[in-house]
This record gives sequence, C-alpha cells and structure tokens, in this order.
Amino acid sequence: MEATDCARGFSRRKLLRWVVGGWVAAFLGAVIYPILRYVLPPQGAEPEVGSLNVGSLDDFAPNTGKIVRYGSKPVIVIRTAAGDVRAFSAICTHLQCTVQYRPDIRHIWCACHNGHYDLEGRNIAGPPPRPLERFDVRIDDQRNIVILRRTTGG
Ligand code: FES
Repeated sequence: MEATDCARGFSRRKLLRWVVGGWVAAFLGAVIYPILRYVLPPQGAEPEVGSLNVGSLDDFAPNTGKIVRYGSKPVIVIRTAAGDVRAFSAICTHLQCTVQYRPDIRHIWCACHNGHYDLEGRNIAGPPPRPLERFDVRIDDQRNIVILRRTTGG
C-alpha cells in the first residue's frame, strides 16, 4: 500500500513536471522565436538591384530629402539647396537606425542618438563611426533621377 502511494505520487509529480516543463518550453519558444526572426537576417542571397529610377527631378524640390527602397534597403535621396542630387544608404552606421534629411541644418541626421552626417555622407557629429555608403546618381534624358550602387569606394 505504501509502495503504491509512493508510485502514484511519483507519477503525478512526473506528470506535473512534464506539463509545467512543456508549458515553459512553449512559452519561451513563443517569446524567443519572434525575437530571433526579427534580429537575424533572413537566409538566402539578396536579389541584385541594378539602377533604380526614383522619379522626376522636377518632383524633388531643392533642400529636401526622400527615402526610397533600393532592393530591401532604404536609400536617402537628397536634392541640396544648390540643386545637386546625392544618394546615400539611409542606414546609420552607428546602430542601423534610418537617417533623415534635416533641411533646417542641411545635414543628414539620425534621430536615435543625434548622429550627424554632412552632404558628402561623412559622419561629422555624434556616435556614428563611419560615413554613409554613397550611391551614384545620374539624371537620364527624361530628367529622371536614377541611382545605382557604386562599384568602387568613395
Ligand atoms: S543609430 Fe544613428 S546615431 Fe545611433
């Protein structure tokens, strides 16, 4: 009789452990999996993007900036106050926030930690450790702005 009670207690305890352990594992999986999916880049090569037409030059007023998608990455296209067009990766070199153009100070600015880049993409203030990646820009025959990734540094 005593052995049966002990065996029953053991099996209840074991069952309870399995149930609680399974619940904890399911809970952790439900919490950790989405975090890992968010943090880790997806598998597979990113499709190559050639040139990208980002619209008519006439639609870009001087001293403005606009974020466009180049493949899966954001690119900031800036028309300077003097009318030049420049394009840079819009991913801050500090902790990968998306930068924006500040017409009031004529800088590319990262709101996350107050990082500043000049209109050459150089990091000039705040925590960003490197310049922004620059893209080549050309204006086609129909006055469209076309950007393409640089094949050489600079
Ligand atoms: S992420 Fe841009 S300054 Fe920190």
